Amino acid sequence: MVEIKTAAELELMRQSSKIVAQVLALLKKKICAGVSTAELNKFAELEIRNREAVPAFLGYRGYPAALCVSINEEVVHGIPSDKRIIRSGDLVSMDLGAVYRGFYGDAAVTVAVGAVKPEMRRLMAVTEASLARALSEVRSGAKLGDVSHAVESFVIENGMSVVREFTGHGIGRRLHEEPSIPNYGKPGSGVTLKAGMTLAIEPMVCLGKPEIIIKNDGWTAVSADGSCTAHFEHTVAVTENGCEILSVV
Ligand code: MF3
Ligand code: CO
Repeated sequence: MVEIKTAAELELMRQSSKIVAQVLALLKKKICAGVSTAELNKFAELEIRNREAVPAFLGYRGYPAALCVSINEEVVHGIPSDKRIIRSGDLVSMDLGAVYRGFYGDAAVTVAVGAVKPEMRRLMAVTEASLARALSEVRSGAKLGDVSHAVESFVIENGMSVVREFTGHGIGRRLHEEPSIPNYGKPGSGVTLKAGMTLAIEPMVCLGKPEIIIKNDGWTAVSADGSCTAHFEHTVAVTENGCEILSVV
């Protein structure tokens, strides 16, 4: 069953998601060639705790950090490390979650560091636009399949592919609630959306083939063909006429 949040719960979701968006905005300013992914993680954790929130990913199924930093062919769940230094030309996805007064917020952005190849810039733009397409389908009465299909069709039209192993999700008192939100699907199929549902929608897109491999650290997902990937995510609330993006500053 997909939970419907009360007005009071939605207000807390707004706050937790805003904290995530604020810290991601700071990370976008901080990221540069020469910084380690561990430094970004440390900064993210500090900024979350400064806002009286708790990192949502730290300890989640044993995940060892607050932030996921996934570079180039890494799709999601890159584990921060002192040894991993961002370089000019990298396409970097940062995924962050926070819990504030019992409610989760979750969002991700992909940024270009220095001069990246034109195809990487296009990948980033198509992935972000696919999220916008998905959000434009969200409203009370719409089917989840409409949202999923919007991502898939837009990505394919642009000659790229969507990762199938990871999905978006309902979110609230838990990081992952029902429904699961694939980035592919059939229009008119699946759950009917209702006002008050809160969803984390997160397209993960590959420039090449969609298959992924999990690295030996048990977390880092990379494209099997080594092609570059991008990831954007927002936490949103379904409304009567559309959606409210909660993960905004
Ligand atoms: N945005 C991702 C998700 O919702 C991040 C999870 S990272 C983890 O699944 F470490 F918490 F697993
Ligand atoms: Co998520």
